[in-house]
Amino acid sequence: LTRERYPVRRLPFAQVSEDDLAALERIVPGRVITDPEELEAPNVDWLRTVRGSSKVLLRPRTSQEVAHILRYCHERNLAVSPQGGNTGMVGGSVPVFDEIILSTTLMNQVMSFHDVSGVLVCQAGCILEELGRYVEERGFLMPLDLGAKGSCHIGGNVATNAGGLRFLRYGSLRGTVLGLEVVSRGHHCGPASQVLADGTILNCLTSLRKDNTGYDLKQLFIGSEGTLGVITAVSILCPPKPSAVNVAFLGCPGFAEVLQTFSTCRQKLGEILSAFEFMDAECMKLVELHLRLASPVRESPFYVLIETSGSGAGHDAEKLSDFLEQVLGSGLVTDGTLATDQRRIKMLWSLRERITEALSRDGYVYKYDLSLPVERLYDLVSDLRARLGPRAKHVVGYGHLGDGNLHLNVTAEAFDVSLLGALEPYVYEWTARQRGSVSAEHGLGFKKRDVLCYSKPPEALQLMQQLKALLDPKGILNPYKTLPARA
Ligand code: FAD
Ligand code: MLT
Ligand code: ZN
Repeated sequence: LTRERYPVRRLPFAQVSEDDLAALERIVPGRVITDPEELEAPNVDWLRTVRGSSKVLLRPRTSQEVAHILRYCHERNLAVSPQGGNTGMVGGSVPVFDEIILSTTLMNQVMSFHDVSGVLVCQAGCILEELGRYVEERGFLMPLDLGAKGSCHIGGNVATNAGGLRFLRYGSLRGTVLGLEVVSRGHHCGPASQVLADGTILNCLTSLRKDNTGYDLKQLFIGSEGTLGVITAVSILCPPKPSAVNVAFLGCPGFAEVLQTFSTCRQKLGEILSAFEFMDAECMKLVELHLRLASPVRESPFYVLIETSGSGAGHDAEKLSDFLEQVLGSGLVTDGTLATDQRRIKMLWSLRERITEALSRDGYVYKYDLSLPVERLYDLVSDLRARLGPRAKHVVGYGHLGDGNLHLNVTAEAFDVSLLGALEPYVYEWTARQRGSVSAEHGLGFKKRDVLCYSKPPEALQLMQQLKALLDPKGILNPYKTLPARA
């Protein structure tokens, strides 16, 4: 799967020996996995487009164990690939060669929750959906939500700086994450020779809302995709759970109408607006075809999902009906449906959340995750549809419109180099001309690391490389990821 598609050469790390296995067994007794069958799934990414050949997976339970593992691997020059729920979209969570997989699966304990501040402190391997249930029982909400919630880990979410479905309301993890505990290395003072790789535990696990004591080090690790350290615990601010939630699923006759619906929505719904997602007719076709979901509205070129979250059901309903009256009356929206009960809300959300799954059943998926000026967001999709013609099975556009984030996906029966050649660098050049970002929320991982230059100047890239060298001088942490291969 991997090396033919993405040419890359193994770096001169050591290979895991029998002695290494014995030493690792002493660090995490009974949790050194070498059974080839058990190693099959963690070697392949969610999209099944990249595959490693790791022969060892470790399951630490504590930060101390993670520190011991990294200290040992550094001494022995063994490469390590941190893995959470393995739901990443850019091949960052699987080894490329024989890197040791360090899984956070057993690091799944809630450490504390404060029901006045809403601050949750937990280990990195807690599953997002389980955390959601935990805080909701206490009247709070996780500030992030994504289709992968049933398997992704909070540590993986922080490591990728995941965006998702609540970004519009609660913002980036860069704001809601208050503190981190990270096992990194080499932040000793003193001469270079003392800058040792030693699996140091960096405890910045504060629960404070405000803390301006110097550089905000946790930000370095948010979105660092396992290349600078292993996140072992997270402190995160949860908002109160809104008591009134409504979801409207609407059909729009064109993209211009989608944009005007968004503007109207912001004006009319104001502070209660909590999500504005869009999908095109091709997406709807795919979820109908592959997942047997039924569209709740008449067939339209575009669909939008609008969610409101507030504290007064009557007040919110009044605002929403005022909004709907306006968009239906002016022809911005041609058909729509509304949900207020849990079950129907979930059903409407699944049409949007499960597009990723429907696409993966359609064939090989070329996946792009772009930030673009919202007015131009769909032009690229139309443009590509014309450019590719029958070479592509489907060209679809969906995403977090409220955040200017387009998910552009192209499917084909199988991977095809010439189709890839028609897509890249075209998509990246198009995005760079709009001063967009070539990765809005998925990160760079293994598959996108060489396109970083379309969104960042050479000076930024150089500083990134210097930081990597400072924190991981031997480059053992998630090699071949995030930083470009071409120096
Ligand atoms: P993994 O996939 O295991 O790892 C991802 C990266 O983080 C890798 O580079 C890995 O090395 C690193 N990593 C993992 N854990 C740690 C750790 N403890 N310390 C250091 N590094 C670590 N993403 C979005 O942004 N928004 C979405 O809306 C969204 N929706 C999705 C829907 C579906 C159906 C799927 C399959 C994926 C979706 N994703 C989305 C992508 C993915 O779920 C996110 O990137 C998620 O945050 C990854 O979490 P994970 O635990 O699965 O991490
Ligand atoms: C989404 O918004 O559905 C996710 O980011 C996953 C994807 O892009 O397919
Ligand atoms: Zn997304």
